[in-house]
Amino acid sequence: MRTQVAIIGAGPAGLFLSLLLQRAGIECVVLEMHTREHVQTRVRAGVLEHGTVQLMHELGVGERLKRLGLEHGGIELRFAGHGHRIDFRELTGGKCVTIYAQHEVIKDLVAARLAANQPLLFEVSDVRLADLESKSPRVHFVREGKSGTLQCDFIAGCDGFHGVCRPAIPSSALQLFDRAYPFGWLGILAQAPPSSQELIYAHHERGFALLSMRSPEISRLYLQCQPEENIENWPDERIWDELQKRLAASGWNLTEGPIIQRGVTGMRSFVTEPMQFGRLFLAGDAAHIVPPTGAKGLNLAVADVRVLAHALAEFYRSGSAEPLHRYSETCLRRVWKVQRFSWWMTSLLHRFADDNAFDQRRQLAELDYVTSSRAAAQSLAENYVGLPME
Ligand code: FAD
Ligand code: PHB
Repeated sequence: MRTQVAIIGAGPAGLFLSLLLQRAGIECVVLEMHTREHVQTRVRAGVLEHGTVQLMHELGVGERLKRLGLEHGGIELRFAGHGHRIDFRELTGGKCVTIYAQHEVIKDLVAARLAANQPLLFEVSDVRLADLESKSPRVHFVREGKSGTLQCDFIAGCDGFHGVCRPAIPSSALQLFDRAYPFGWLGILAQAPPSSQELIYAHHERGFALLSMRSPEISRLYLQCQPEENIENWPDERIWDELQKRLAASGWNLTEGPIIQRGVTGMRSFVTEPMQFGRLFLAGDAAHIVPPTGAKGLNLAVADVRVLAHALAEFYRSGSAEPLHRYSETCLRRVWKVQRFSWWMTSLLHRFADDNAFDQRRQLAELDYVTSSRAAAQSLAENYVGLPME
């Protein structure tokens, strides 16, 4: 088998890249280890930046998003028992974010790829990369019990944090930057109408809580918990009790309902430099991880593949490899700004194991500042809706 670009992983990074390349007339093959059903039902992120929404429309995959997505023109920061709204539209010249589940995005992208009769292979195992420094790298894999080899010009490593692409690069060629946080998030989906029209990020002495949603009938809620929290220790009643306490505000009620999904996610900040080795380009979680507090993971993956698709299109159009050489540098400028924002939102809102009364007062002062200074609120807003693409 031969193609121009081999894409490893059918998450947001791999699938968006496949459609961007398709639009530019570049052939690619996507190899995914899981089943179609698995990738289309994995519950993950839910907030799409303004630019991600625009891209879905440009690629002709925005029909369900337009119908089912919930546009949010702001968020609430809740602390000391009171809510304070950050008005995105007013602070960013009319921009907003859209609530639309990651697995719905995946369904739309998979459907478009298959409808165009373009190769997207599920249940591929034993993926191994070879000859990364040559002009014709190869991907070995197994499918339906048979070994196969894909010859290509370039490989896009879109296989997430635990994938095989980053480890295929000699460690001496990479610099890794890492920060683990001493907490995780316990997330639930509940059959309960959202108790607020917009997301609520709550600072509380018992720990952070977040109210989000998926539809007018389904709430998505998170609680700060231990990094290795055993979900067995959290019966429904304890989850609701803790959410009630941390989200409490006078004159406001949290509506409860049956919990239909639950899980614990660890939190880390991680960056790989550079995001390229020979003809292998890393994109999305394969290259970097952000804590979910800024709702950036999926959006950052999309930003990477826009840069990569543009650079590949330039290569095939004019023969110039210059944008490809600058891929890592271009992406990392955004990556580090998004890292900074996600770390800042996380530091602002969570309890840390070693914090004391001083740290808590400092956090409250910062929240007071962010919600009373237009300059500070605007900084949050422009990062949250998404920094402009270069
Ligand atoms: P992924 O979505 O991880 O996709 C990688 C794909 O590669 C997967 O389909 C995987 O099956 C496939 N793959 C892996 N290894 C191989 C292999 N060897 N061969 C073939 N295929 C392979 N972000 C938020 O903003 N908010 C959230 O609430 C949030 N919650 C999250 C919860 C969890 C449990 C996780 C893991 C992430 C969460 N994120 C969240 C982050 C966000 O979902 C990711 O940033 C986003 O999915 C990145 O997309 P990606 O395409 O780079 O990687
Ligand atoms: C979500 O709806 O899953 C969500 C929203 C905001 C975040 C993280 C996750 O910061």
